[in-house]
Amino acid sequence: MTAAPGSARTAFVEAFGRPPGCVWWAPGRVNLIGEHTDYNDGYVLPLAIPFGVQAAVRERPDRVLRVVSAQSGPAADLRVDTLRPGGAAGWSAYVAGVVWALGEAGHEIGGLDVLVDGDVPLGAGLSSSAALECSVAAAVVDLLDLGLDRSALVQLTKRSENAFVGVPNGILDQSASLLATEGHLLFLDTRTLASRQVPFDLARHGLALLVVDTRAPHALVDGEYAARRLACEAAARELGVPALRDVDLAELPEALARLVDPVIRRRARHVVTEDDRVLRVVGLLDAGDDPRAIGSLLTASHVSLRDDFEVTVPALDVAVDAALDAGAHGARMTGAGFGGCVITLVDTANAPAVERAVAEAFRSRGFAPPKAFEVTPAAGAHRLEQPVSRQPSPP
Ligand code: GLA
Repeated sequence: MTAAPGSARTAFVEAFGRPPGCVWWAPGRVNLIGEHTDYNDGYVLPLAIPFGVQAAVRERPDRVLRVVSAQSGPAADLRVDTLRPGGAAGWSAYVAGVVWALGEAGHEIGGLDVLVDGDVPLGAGLSSSAALECSVAAAVVDLLDLGLDRSALVQLTKRSENAFVGVPNGILDQSASLLATEGHLLFLDTRTLASRQVPFDLARHGLALLVVDTRAPHALVDGEYAARRLACEAAARELGVPALRDVDLAELPEALARLVDPVIRRRARHVVTEDDRVLRVVGLLDAGDDPRAIGSLLTASHVSLRDDFEVTVPALDVAVDAALDAGAHGARMTGAGFGGCVITLVDTANAPAVERAVAEAFRSRGFAPPKAFEVTPAAGAHRLEQPVSRQPSPP
């Protein structure tokens, strides 16, 4: 289902009349659990999905950044020297942001031709933007031999999205895209940035992870996301800790009693309990327990995101309830919320029934039909084509 290997190369040649210098691929992600914890110094447990973006790049002899998308066509040319935060709009801002962030970090970047070809469903909360910026960053860094390792790429792409595009997200999406490995969950401590690969072989247990894209339109996402961050920061300040990560589950009742505002209290309760759920899921998987045992923690995460963090919408709640009624072992929204996808842990044999149950629940409520697909943990970002000579071709 991923854009065919080599598709970006072919499209690059069509767009620019010469072959690319280097081609990389980077995936989108789903987060198994650990939602809205990454900007609270907490824990996350994502996996890379087999949908991503191929980025084909080549140096140009001038100082122009020319970007073409196989899906959306060409973007307006930009001058590398005049890139400024907020100075590019739409999808190409994610590409321009990477080039800007490299320049800001002191790297000498000249003109570039960039072709991107992606198949991450857009607006579904599967991190199509992280796939875009990580594929481009990895390809450019490789092409120009800038010597940045993956952790540095995570920081660079996050900075580009925060400071150039203006989205105040945490480090979850870029980490998943760049650090995840096939067959594993990425267990990441977003404070220390220590990470570990946790094997996740559901098929061995007759299980599957079914993703349901509710296709519910995202409403008010940006403002609401920023508001959640502010509420969490306010809670940490009031409790006198650097971040909500520093509140232990055992101390939670006492901490909550000190928070005056009931909204801030609910936000804090979600974050502290969610960190604990991540640790418990990792503990169960590490112990080699039947993964069905994590189902109730996934569902508890959804309930917390619905009732305490208040980032679900009716389509997400209906999908979770219908999946559970149809026998899913656990189900929850994944990503920022306010629309997007639900993940469900199902017996492989029961996946079609769960899919039908969600579709039927949507039909009876007049929602647009959802789209469902199974995922297994895919590889993180990787090179598809070696860099060639760094010499730009004559114009
Ligand atoms: C979005 C952000 C991430 C993270 C999630 C919620 O995907 O980009 O940084 O905060 O929401 O867990």
